[in-house]
Amino acid sequence: MAQFPVVRMRRLRATEALRRLVRETTLAPSDLIYPLFVVEGQGVQRAIGAMPGNYHWSLDTLPCVLDEVASLGIPGVLLFGIPEEKDEVGSQAYAPEGIVQRAVRAIKQSHPDLLVITDVCLCEYTSHGHCGVVTADGCLQNDPTLELLQRTAVSHAQAGADIVAPSDMMDGRVGAIRAALDANGFESVALLAYAAKYASAFYGPFREAADSAPRFGDRRAYQMDPANRREALREVALDVAEGADLVMVKPALSYLDVIREVRDRFDLPLVAYNVSGEYSMVKAAAANGWVDGERLMLEILTSIKRAGADVILTYHALEAARLLRAAG
Ligand code: PBG
Repeated sequence: MAQFPVVRMRRLRATEALRRLVRETTLAPSDLIYPLFVVEGQGVQRAIGAMPGNYHWSLDTLPCVLDEVASLGIPGVLLFGIPEEKDEVGSQAYAPEGIVQRAVRAIKQSHPDLLVITDVCLCEYTSHGHCGVVTADGCLQNDPTLELLQRTAVSHAQAGADIVAPSDMMDGRVGAIRAALDANGFESVALLAYAAKYASAFYGPFREAADSAPRFGDRRAYQMDPANRREALREVALDVAEGADLVMVKPALSYLDVIREVRDRFDLPLVAYNVSGEYSMVKAAAANGWVDGERLMLEILTSIKRAGADVILTYHALEAARLLRAAG
Protein backbone atom coordinates (compact mmCIF):
# COMPACT_ATOMS: atom_id res chain seq x y z
CA MET A 1 0.00 0.00 0.00
CA ALA A 2 1.50 3.28 -1.05
CA GLN A 3 1.80 5.66 1.92
CA PHE A 4 2.03 8.70 -0.29
CA PRO A 5 0.53 11.33 -0.13
CA VAL A 6 0.23 10.99 3.68
CA VAL A 7 3.89 10.28 4.13
CA ARG A 8 6.15 12.87 2.59
CA MET A 9 9.84 12.42 3.39
CA ARG A 10 10.64 15.88 2.14
CA ARG A 11 8.74 17.55 5.02
CA LEU A 12 11.68 17.18 7.38
CA ARG A 13 14.20 18.34 4.80
CA ALA A 14 12.62 21.69 4.10
CA THR A 15 14.76 23.99 6.25
CA GLU A 16 18.14 23.90 7.92
CA ALA A 17 16.43 24.00 11.33
CA LEU A 18 14.44 20.86 10.52
CA ARG A 19 17.41 19.09 9.03
CA ARG A 20 19.44 19.91 12.12
CA LEU A 21 16.69 18.62 14.39
CA VAL A 22 16.59 15.20 12.76
CA ARG A 23 20.28 14.82 11.96
CA GLU A 24 21.44 11.37 13.07
CA THR A 25 25.19 11.87 12.96
CA THR A 26 27.11 14.86 14.21
CA LEU A 27 30.74 15.72 13.92
CA ALA A 28 32.64 17.72 16.54
CA PRO A 29 36.26 18.78 17.04
CA SER A 30 36.33 16.43 20.03
CA ASP A 31 35.96 13.47 17.62
CA LEU A 32 39.20 14.28 15.85
CA ILE A 33 42.89 13.53 16.39
CA TYR A 34 45.56 15.35 14.38
CA PRO A 35 48.58 13.37 13.10
CA LEU A 36 51.86 15.31 13.23
CA PHE A 37 55.32 14.68 11.76
CA VAL A 38 58.27 15.71 13.89
CA VAL A 39 61.79 16.15 12.54
CA GLU A 40 65.25 17.10 13.78
CA GLY A 41 66.50 20.64 13.30
CA GLN A 42 65.61 24.19 14.23
CA GLY A 43 62.93 26.46 12.89
CA VAL A 44 61.53 23.81 10.56
CA GLN A 45 57.99 24.07 9.21
CA ARG A 46 58.45 22.26 5.91
CA ALA A 47 55.46 21.69 3.66
CA ILE A 48 54.74 18.07 2.72
CA GLY A 49 54.25 18.25 -1.04
CA ALA A 50 51.72 15.47 -1.42
CA MET A 51 49.68 16.60 1.61
CA PRO A 52 49.00 20.33 1.18
CA GLY A 53 48.44 22.06 4.52
CA ASN A 54 50.51 19.52 6.48
CA TYR A 55 54.11 20.05 7.57
CA HIS A 56 57.22 18.61 9.09
CA TRP A 57 57.76 20.34 12.44
CA SER A 58 60.90 20.66 14.51
CA LEU A 59 60.60 20.71 18.28
CA ASP A 60 60.83 24.50 18.50
CA THR A 61 58.08 25.17 15.91
CA LEU A 62 55.75 22.47 17.20
CA PRO A 63 54.13 24.68 19.87
CA CYS A 64 52.56 26.92 17.18
CA VAL A 65 50.50 24.10 15.75
CA LEU A 66 49.78 22.65 19.19
CA ASP A 67 48.33 26.00 20.30
CA GLU A 68 45.95 25.79 17.38
CA VAL A 69 45.05 22.15 18.06
CA ALA A 70 44.24 23.01 21.68
CA SER A 71 42.32 26.19 20.94
CA LEU A 72 40.13 24.38 18.40
CA GLY A 73 39.11 21.79 20.97
CA ILE A 74 40.88 18.87 19.27
CA PRO A 75 41.72 16.48 22.14
CA GLY A 76 45.07 15.23 20.94
CA VAL A 77 47.75 14.46 18.41
CA LEU A 78 49.31 11.31 16.96
CA LEU A 79 53.07 11.58 16.55
CA PHE A 80 55.26 10.24 13.77
CA GLY A 81 59.01 10.77 13.97
CA ILE A 82 61.44 11.20 11.12
CA PRO A 83 64.90 10.45 12.48
CA GLU A 84 68.15 11.81 11.06
CA GLU A 85 69.65 8.34 10.88
CA LYS A 86 68.20 4.96 9.98
CA ASP A 87 69.71 1.52 10.44
CA GLU A 88 68.84 -2.15 9.96
CA VAL A 89 67.14 -2.49 13.35
CA GLY A 90 65.53 0.96 13.65
CA SER A 91 67.52 1.99 16.73
CA GLN A 92 66.15 5.53 16.75
CA ALA A 93 62.64 4.17 17.30
CA TYR A 94 63.54 3.20 20.87
CA ALA A 95 66.37 5.62 21.64
CA PRO A 96 65.62 7.54 24.86
CA GLU A 97 66.67 10.74 23.05
CA GLY A 98 64.91 9.84 19.81
CA ILE A 99 62.89 12.49 18.03
CA VAL A 100 59.50 11.17 19.17
CA GLN A 101 60.63 10.70 22.77
CA ARG A 102 61.86 14.31 22.91
CA ALA A 103 58.70 15.56 21.19
CA VAL A 104 56.47 13.79 23.73
CA ARG A 105 58.40 15.35 26.61
CA ALA A 106 58.21 18.79 25.03
CA ILE A 107 54.47 18.53 24.41
CA LYS A 108 53.79 17.30 27.92
CA GLN A 109 55.66 20.38 29.21
CA SER A 110 54.05 22.96 26.95
CA HIS A 111 50.54 21.44 26.55
CA PRO A 112 49.93 19.07 29.46
CA ASP A 113 46.23 18.74 28.67
CA LEU A 114 46.68 17.52 25.10
CA LEU A 115 46.52 13.78 24.62
CA VAL A 116 49.71 12.44 23.13
CA ILE A 117 49.40 9.26 21.08
CA THR A 118 52.54 7.74 19.57
CA ASP A 119 52.73 5.54 16.51
CA VAL A 120 54.74 2.46 17.47
CA CYS A 121 56.42 1.07 14.37
CA LEU A 122 59.90 0.69 12.96
CA CYS A 123 59.38 1.59 9.29
CA GLU A 124 60.35 5.25 9.64
CA TYR A 125 63.55 4.15 11.42
CA THR A 126 64.83 1.19 9.43
CA SER A 127 67.17 1.60 6.46
CA HIS A 128 65.13 -0.96 4.48
CA GLY A 129 61.81 0.72 5.31
CA HIS A 130 60.07 -2.41 6.60
CA CYS A 131 58.20 -2.46 9.90
CA GLY A 132 60.61 -4.75 11.76
CA VAL A 133 63.65 -6.98 11.59
CA VAL A 134 64.31 -8.54 8.17
CA THR A 135 66.40 -11.60 7.29
CA ALA A 136 69.17 -11.51 4.65
CA ASP A 137 66.67 -12.68 2.05
CA GLY A 138 64.29 -9.86 2.92
CA CYS A 139 61.73 -11.67 5.04
CA LEU A 140 60.19 -9.72 7.93
CA GLN A 141 60.61 -11.68 11.15
CA ASN A 142 57.70 -11.57 13.52
CA ASP A 143 58.99 -12.63 16.91
CA PRO A 144 62.34 -10.80 16.95
CA THR A 145 60.43 -7.65 15.97
CA LEU A 146 58.20 -7.90 19.06
CA GLU A 147 61.07 -7.13 21.39
CA LEU A 148 61.93 -3.94 19.49
CA LEU A 149 58.30 -2.86 19.53
CA GLN A 150 58.20 -3.44 23.28
CA ARG A 151 61.26 -1.25 23.74
CA THR A 152 59.76 1.43 21.51
CA ALA A 153 56.45 1.49 23.38
CA VAL A 154 58.15 1.57 26.79
CA SER A 155 60.39 4.44 25.69
CA HIS A 156 57.32 6.39 24.55
CA ALA A 157 55.63 5.71 27.88
CA GLN A 158 58.76 6.82 29.74
CA ALA A 159 58.62 10.08 27.79
CA GLY A 160 55.01 10.60 28.89
CA ALA A 161 52.79 9.27 26.08
CA ASP A 162 49.15 8.77 27.10
CA ILE A 163 48.41 6.18 24.44
CA VAL A 164 50.75 4.00 22.37
CA ALA A 165 49.51 2.82 18.99
CA PRO A 166 51.29 -0.12 17.33
CA SER A 167 50.85 0.01 13.54
CA ASP A 168 53.22 -2.76 12.48
CA MET A 169 50.75 -5.69 12.17
CA MET A 170 53.07 -8.27 13.76
CA ASP A 171 51.21 -11.16 15.39
CA GLY A 172 51.15 -10.97 19.17
CA ARG A 173 52.38 -7.42 19.46
CA VAL A 174 49.48 -6.07 21.49
CA GLY A 175 49.97 -8.67 24.23
CA ALA A 176 53.75 -8.23 24.12
CA ILE A 177 53.53 -4.46 24.41
CA ARG A 178 50.91 -4.63 27.19
CA ALA A 179 53.16 -6.97 29.18
CA ALA A 180 56.20 -4.73 28.67
CA LEU A 181 54.32 -1.60 29.71
CA ASP A 182 52.98 -3.29 32.82
CA ALA A 183 56.37 -4.75 33.75
CA ASN A 184 57.81 -1.24 33.64
CA GLY A 185 55.13 0.41 35.77
CA PHE A 186 53.10 1.85 32.90
CA GLU A 187 49.87 -0.03 33.53
CA SER A 188 47.91 3.21 33.06
CA VAL A 189 49.25 3.90 29.57
CA ALA A 190 46.52 2.92 27.09
CA LEU A 191 46.96 0.85 23.97
CA LEU A 192 45.33 1.74 20.67
CA ALA A 193 45.76 -1.20 18.30
CA TYR A 194 45.89 -0.64 14.57
CA ALA A 195 43.83 -3.83 14.57
CA ALA A 196 42.59 -4.07 11.00
CA LYS A 197 45.25 -2.40 8.91
CA TYR A 198 45.16 -3.11 5.21
CA ALA A 199 48.03 -3.16 2.70
CA SER A 200 46.74 -0.07 0.96
CA ALA A 201 47.68 2.19 -1.93
CA PHE A 202 46.06 4.98 0.11
CA TYR A 203 49.29 5.25 2.17
CA GLY A 204 51.20 6.68 -0.81
CA PRO A 205 51.51 10.31 0.35
CA PHE A 206 52.39 9.23 3.92
CA ARG A 207 55.40 7.34 2.68
CA GLU A 208 56.67 10.59 1.23
CA ALA A 209 55.81 12.44 4.45
CA ALA A 210 57.49 9.88 6.70
CA ASP A 211 60.18 8.73 4.25
CA SER A 212 59.13 5.18 5.06
CA ALA A 213 58.61 3.45 1.71
CA PRO A 214 60.04 -0.09 1.74
CA ARG A 215 63.30 -0.20 -0.26
CA PHE A 216 62.32 -3.63 -1.62
CA GLY A 217 59.10 -5.58 -1.77
CA ASP A 218 55.88 -4.37 -0.18
CA ARG A 219 53.91 -4.87 3.04
CA ARG A 220 51.48 -7.52 1.82
CA ALA A 221 53.10 -10.25 3.91
CA TYR A 222 52.05 -8.44 7.10
CA GLN A 223 49.28 -5.95 6.38
CA MET A 224 45.84 -7.23 5.42
CA ASP A 225 44.45 -8.04 2.00
CA PRO A 226 41.91 -5.33 1.03
CA ALA A 227 39.56 -8.07 -0.14
CA ASN A 228 39.01 -9.46 3.37
CA ARG A 229 36.29 -8.50 5.84
CA ARG A 230 35.94 -11.52 8.12
CA GLU A 231 39.68 -11.54 8.68
CA ALA A 232 39.40 -8.00 10.08
CA LEU A 233 37.01 -9.28 12.75
CA ARG A 234 39.50 -11.98 13.72
CA GLU A 235 42.27 -9.38 13.94
CA VAL A 236 40.14 -7.16 16.18
CA ALA A 237 39.11 -10.10 18.39
CA LEU A 238 42.76 -11.07 18.87
CA ASP A 239 43.81 -7.53 19.79
CA VAL A 240 40.92 -7.24 22.23
CA ALA A 241 41.93 -10.54 23.84
CA GLU A 242 45.54 -9.33 24.07
CA GLY A 243 44.49 -6.20 25.94
CA ALA A 244 43.84 -3.39 23.46
CA ASP A 245 41.92 -0.45 24.99
CA LEU A 246 40.87 1.01 21.66
CA VAL A 247 40.89 -0.55 18.20
CA MET A 248 41.40 0.96 14.79
CA VAL A 249 40.34 0.29 11.23
CA LYS A 250 42.67 1.72 8.61
CA PRO A 251 42.17 3.13 5.97
CA ALA A 252 38.67 4.48 6.56
CA LEU A 253 36.92 5.53 3.39
CA SER A 254 37.17 2.32 1.37
CA TYR A 255 36.56 0.30 4.54
CA LEU A 256 33.30 1.75 5.89
CA ASP A 257 31.77 -1.73 5.83
CA VAL A 258 34.57 -2.99 8.05
CA ILE A 259 34.08 -0.07 10.45
CA ARG A 260 30.37 -0.86 10.68
CA GLU A 261 30.96 -4.54 11.26
CA VAL A 262 33.54 -3.90 14.00
CA ARG A 263 31.18 -1.37 15.61
CA ASP A 264 28.37 -3.94 15.68
CA ARG A 265 30.46 -6.74 17.13
CA PHE A 266 32.74 -5.02 19.65
CA ASP A 267 32.11 -2.52 22.42
CA LEU A 268 35.55 -0.92 22.58
CA PRO A 269 36.05 2.65 21.40
CA LEU A 270 36.57 2.48 17.66
CA VAL A 271 39.05 4.70 15.85
CA ALA A 272 39.20 5.12 12.07
CA TYR A 273 42.24 6.42 10.23
CA ASN A 274 41.32 8.76 7.38
CA VAL A 275 44.72 8.19 5.78
CA SER A 276 47.03 10.30 3.66
CA GLY A 277 45.77 9.20 0.25
CA GLU A 278 42.16 9.88 1.25
CA TYR A 279 43.25 13.36 2.27
CA SER A 280 45.37 14.07 -0.80
CA MET A 281 42.64 12.98 -3.23
CA VAL A 282 40.31 15.61 -1.76
CA LYS A 283 43.01 18.27 -1.92
CA ALA A 284 43.98 17.44 -5.51
CA ALA A 285 40.41 17.39 -6.78
CA ALA A 286 39.62 20.64 -4.97
CA ALA A 287 42.77 22.32 -6.34
CA ASN A 288 41.56 21.42 -9.83
CA GLY A 289 38.18 22.96 -9.13
CA TRP A 290 36.47 19.60 -9.62
CA VAL A 291 34.85 19.41 -6.20
CA ASP A 292 33.99 21.67 -3.28
CA GLY A 293 36.84 20.59 -0.99
CA GLU A 294 35.26 21.72 2.28
CA ARG A 295 31.96 20.01 1.65
CA LEU A 296 33.69 16.87 0.46
CA MET A 297 35.84 16.81 3.60
CA LEU A 298 32.87 17.15 5.96
CA GLU A 299 30.87 14.56 4.01
CA ILE A 300 33.72 12.06 4.22
CA LEU A 301 34.30 12.63 7.94
CA THR A 302 30.57 12.39 8.64
CA SER A 303 30.34 9.13 6.69
CA ILE A 304 33.15 7.64 8.76
CA LYS A 305 31.27 8.52 11.95
CA ARG A 306 28.00 7.27 10.50
CA ALA A 307 29.70 3.96 9.73
CA GLY A 308 30.42 3.65 13.45
CA ALA A 309 33.75 5.29 14.30
CA ASP A 310 33.97 7.14 17.61
CA VAL A 311 37.21 8.90 16.79
CA ILE A 312 38.78 9.89 13.47
CA LEU A 313 42.48 10.35 12.90
CA THR A 314 42.66 12.88 10.11
CA TYR A 315 44.98 15.36 8.41
CA HIS A 316 41.84 17.47 7.92
CA ALA A 317 41.50 17.93 11.70
CA LEU A 318 42.45 21.62 11.91
CA GLU A 319 40.44 22.64 8.87
CA ALA A 320 37.42 20.60 9.88
CA ALA A 321 37.49 21.86 13.46
CA ARG A 322 37.69 25.46 12.24
CA LEU A 323 34.64 24.96 10.04
CA LEU A 324 32.69 23.09 12.69
CA ARG A 325 33.33 25.84 15.23
CA ALA A 326 32.36 28.55 12.78
CA ALA A 327 29.11 26.69 12.08
CA GLY A 328 28.42 26.60 15.83
C1 PBG B 1 53.60 2.97 9.81
C2 PBG B 1 52.39 3.70 9.38
C3 PBG B 1 51.92 3.95 8.08
C4 PBG B 1 50.79 4.78 8.22
C5 PBG B 1 50.61 4.97 9.58
N1 PBG B 1 51.58 4.28 10.27
C6 PBG B 1 52.46 3.58 6.76
C7 PBG B 1 52.46 2.20 6.29
O1 PBG B 1 52.00 1.27 6.96
O2 PBG B 1 52.99 1.98 5.21
C8 PBG B 1 49.97 5.35 7.10
C9 PBG B 1 49.27 6.62 7.43
C10 PBG B 1 48.71 7.37 6.27
O3 PBG B 1 48.78 6.96 5.11
O4 PBG B 1 48.16 8.43 6.53
N2 PBG B 1 53.57 1.61 9.67
